[in-house]
Amino acid sequence: MSKIIVLKKKIQGFNKKINIPGDKSLSIRWILFSSLASGISKAKNLLISEDIVAAIQVIKKLGIKVILNQKYCKIYGKGINGYRYKKNLTLDAKNSGTLGRLLLGLIINSPKPIKLIGDKSLSIRDFKRITDPLSKFGATFKTNRSNGLPLVIKGSKNLKPIKYIEKKGSAQCKSSVIFAGMRTDGKTLIKAKKSRTHTEILCKHLGLPIKVKSKKNFDLIEVNKVKKIKSLNYDIPADISSASFFLALTALSPSSKLLIKNVNINPNRTGVISIFKKMGIPIYFKNSRFYKGEKIADIFVSSPKEIKPINCPIKLNSSAIDEFLVIFLTVAAKAKGVSYFKNLSELNKKESPRLRWAEKILKMMGIKTITTNDSIKIFGNPNLRIDKKITIRNYLKDHRVFMASVIAALSFENKKGWYIHDSDSIKTSFPSFLTILKKITNEK
Ligand code: S3P
Repeated sequence: MSKIIVLKKKIQGFNKKINIPGDKSLSIRWILFSSLASGISKAKNLLISEDIVAAIQVIKKLGIKVILNQKYCKIYGKGINGYRYKKNLTLDAKNSGTLGRLLLGLIINSPKPIKLIGDKSLSIRDFKRITDPLSKFGATFKTNRSNGLPLVIKGSKNLKPIKYIEKKGSAQCKSSVIFAGMRTDGKTLIKAKKSRTHTEILCKHLGLPIKVKSKKNFDLIEVNKVKKIKSLNYDIPADISSASFFLALTALSPSSKLLIKNVNINPNRTGVISIFKKMGIPIYFKNSRFYKGEKIADIFVSSPKEIKPINCPIKLNSSAIDEFLVIFLTVAAKAKGVSYFKNLSELNKKESPRLRWAEKILKMMGIKTITTNDSIKIFGNPNLRIDKKITIRNYLKDHRVFMASVIAALSFENKKGWYIHDSDSIKTSFPSFLTILKKITNEK
């Protein structure tokens, strides 16, 4: 049964300090790297969510021992060639595009066919973006007509290095090719539009043979075959994408302040901070520091008197890709003027078509938009009063649709109520979302 949450009241002002669970991108990468390390790796503050459990189940199926409890996760890596490729193996990435896509790069040396499956949402997402470059290395694929899942990969022992141009700003595509390059003799060369650099940073931290030259709009990456990965103890910093729901809530709740501790602020993840700043929202980093190559800080935000509209520079697109939905439904909806976001066709290729969902929800809220396949103009209204029942459902259980809708509901008064279905969708990325929200709103 789908659980519905009903919200009718706007939240009162608050002044709070909170902690957010570990970063999802880093948690998945730590699991994958550790699964191929020589020896035992231990993580603290690993995100415990369905996407992460899916990653753990996948490596277990590949023969790797894992211990997971509330305090830590330990992975018993058996070396770079330690995966056990059994006959008729099926691996399930569930809802996680990151897991499914990165994994294909790592299992590219499997001599036996492996079937990759996923849930309803992942099965209709594009895997051609991965099977195309991995085929050039020498892998063969059985795919369906829509290029989604299930697919079958058969790897090769004689992989050839490739030259690859990544044009979408997709860290998943870039990382999958880096992983395949790590299994291949010779130099794999990648020219990648800027996107989150967690994979490269972990490679460098582990002393793996990778070189990155950072240019203005792209990175040049050279990957060589990896012989050994050291085990890796890691204290995973908080997830800026999860944090951004509360940043938006603070921005829209008069006289509010919020401090979020220990957040990963990889420069290719902080688009939401740049966008908030441009919209006149007081937000800054405190205590910036480096941890194993990643930048970390506490984020402080407070509510502004007025929110300015934004003509969002496209160079921020990749670094705010997971935050756009909450930006659209909250700060852009409340801004004094028209905000414009463009070149965002990738947004419709996420767990649900998010640009289309933004248009739908904003329309229900009474906010005018002009939406195309890759852009949205949002006619913000600082005095918005909603006076009709709003129902959000059948959104492929996209966790971010649920959470962004809850934040919008708490930011705009609506006596007739918001009825938001499928609250269990948060389990994929942020199971404690509603608990932390209760802490902020002081509800018992
Ligand atoms: C991710 C990359 C992004 C992002 C996703 C996580 C990653 O996807 O949307 O939530 O961890 O590499 P794309 O690479 O498809 O843009």
